[in-house]
Amino acid sequence: MVKKFYIHTFGCQMNVHDSGKIAGMLADMGYMPADADSDADFILFNTCTVRDHAHHKAISEIGRAVARKKQKKELIVGVCGCVAQAEKDHLFEIYPELDLVFGPDQISRLPDLLKGTGKNLATELIDDPADYNWLKNTIALSHYRTIARVSSFVTIMKGCNNNCSFCIVPSVRGRELSKPADDIISEIKHLTASGIKEVTLLGQNVNSYNKDFVKLVQRISNETDICRIRYTSPHPKDLSADLMEEHATNLKLCSHMHLPLQAGSDRILRTMKRSYNKDQFVKKASALRKCAEGIDITTDIIVGFPGETESDFQDTLEVVKEIAFDGMFAFKYSPRPGTKAAAMKDDVPQKEKEARLQKLLELNSKIWKEKAQRLVGTMQQVLVEGMSKRQPTHQRTNVLTHQLAGKTFGNKIVNFSGNLNLIGHIVPVGITGAGPNSLKGDLCMLK
Ligand code: 5AD
Ligand code: SF4
Repeated sequence: MVKKFYIHTFGCQMNVHDSGKIAGMLADMGYMPADADSDADFILFNTCTVRDHAHHKAISEIGRAVARKKQKKELIVGVCGCVAQAEKDHLFEIYPELDLVFGPDQISRLPDLLKGTGKNLATELIDDPADYNWLKNTIALSHYRTIARVSSFVTIMKGCNNNCSFCIVPSVRGRELSKPADDIISEIKHLTASGIKEVTLLGQNVNSYNKDFVKLVQRISNETDICRIRYTSPHPKDLSADLMEEHATNLKLCSHMHLPLQAGSDRILRTMKRSYNKDQFVKKASALRKCAEGIDITTDIIVGFPGETESDFQDTLEVVKEIAFDGMFAFKYSPRPGTKAAAMKDDVPQKEKEARLQKLLELNSKIWKEKAQRLVGTMQQVLVEGMSKRQPTHQRTNVLTHQLAGKTFGNKIVNFSGNLNLIGHIVPVGITGAGPNSLKGDLCMLK
C-alpha cells in the first residue's frame, strides 16, 4: 500500500515554499499526497511562532493529531518550522507520542528522520555557508511542485541579522546566509523551462542579499527568460536608491514593494529598534513613488507595542494616510519569549489593541476603495494564475468560460471571465469595478 502524507502549513511564504519542497521530498520517497489529514499515514505541521496566536494554534492542532494515534497506531506525526525550532525537545515533553521534530535548517534530513525510531530531533541552526546545502535538490523538487503552475517562490537567503525588539525570527531562523547567485540563476532557468512565468524571491531581509540585491535582480532579468520578478520582504533601512531606480527601469521587476513600517511614532520605532524614524520612512516611500511611478507599496504594522500611547498610534495613522499604502497586514502586538520587547511591560490593554487594529483596517479599506476606483477604466496587464476563488467548484469543469484570477504588474488581484487556456499568459484586462480586496475586469479582445 502506498503511504500518504498531509502537510498543515502556517505562517509566511517561506513556510509555504518549504512545504512544497517537503512534499517533493516525500514524493521522491514514494509517498502520495492525501486529500485530508484523516486519510494520511504521515501528518506534518509546518509551524509559525511569529505571534503567540499562531504558536498556540499549532500546539493545539498537533495535540489533536497526536491523539489520533490511539486509534491509528501506525500514524506518524511530525512538527517542523519555527515552533519546532523554538520549542525543540520540549515538544516531546508536551506530546511524548510525537515522532519527529525538525527545524527550518534541517529539512534535508527528513528522509533519515522518517526512517528512525523513537524521538527524532534535528534543530541545529546552520551559520556556516559551507555547511548549508540549500536543499541541493531543490531543482528536482521544484519541478514536482510546479506542475501546471505559473508562479513560483525561490529562496535567495535565510535568516536575519537585524534585531527588532519584537521579533522572534532571528532566534528561530538564525543569521543571514545568501544562496550563491549561480544556483539561483540555474534554479530559475529550470523553472522557466517548466513553464513558470513569475518568480518571487524569498528572504527574511531580501535586500541585504550578499550586499548587492540589485545586481542579483539584474542577473536574473538578463540571464533567464522569466517574465516577472517579485520579492519579499525588504527592510526600509536597506532600501537603496539603486533598487528604486531598478524599479523605474527594469521591465521584468514588478511594480510592487512590501515595505514594513511597523509603527509611525519615532519613540516606538526607537524601542522597536527599527533603525529609521517616521520622517526617514516617509521620505524613502515618497522617493520610491516618485522614481517608480504608480508602484504599489504594501506594509506590515503592529499596534499596541509596549508603551504605545494614543498619540503614538495617531502618528501611525498619519503615515498610513500620507503614504496611502496599497495593502496592509496589521497585527496586535504579542510578546515573544526571548525577545527584547518581552522584557517590557505589555501595557496596552487587549481591548485597546483591538480598537486600534479596527481603526487601522478601516482606514486601510477606505484608502483601498479610493485607489481601486481610480483604476476603473484603465487597462492592466494581468498574468493569469488560475481559476478565481469565486468560481463555484461544481462549475470548474464542463464550461467554456471560467472566472479567472491573475495579478497586475503591481500587486492587485483581478477577476475576469475567460478561457482556461489563458492561464500562464499575460493578457490585457480592462478594469470595470472593485471589490473589497480585488479588482473586476473584462478581457480586452485584440483585433
Ligand atoms: N507581535 C505582533 N506582530 C509581530 N510581527 C512580528 N513579530 C510580532 C509580534 N511579536 C509582525 C510584523 C512582521 C510580520 C511578519 O509580523 O509586522 O513584519
Ligand atoms: Fe512565522 Fe517568521 Fe517563521 Fe515565517 S519565519 S514561519 S513568519 S516565525
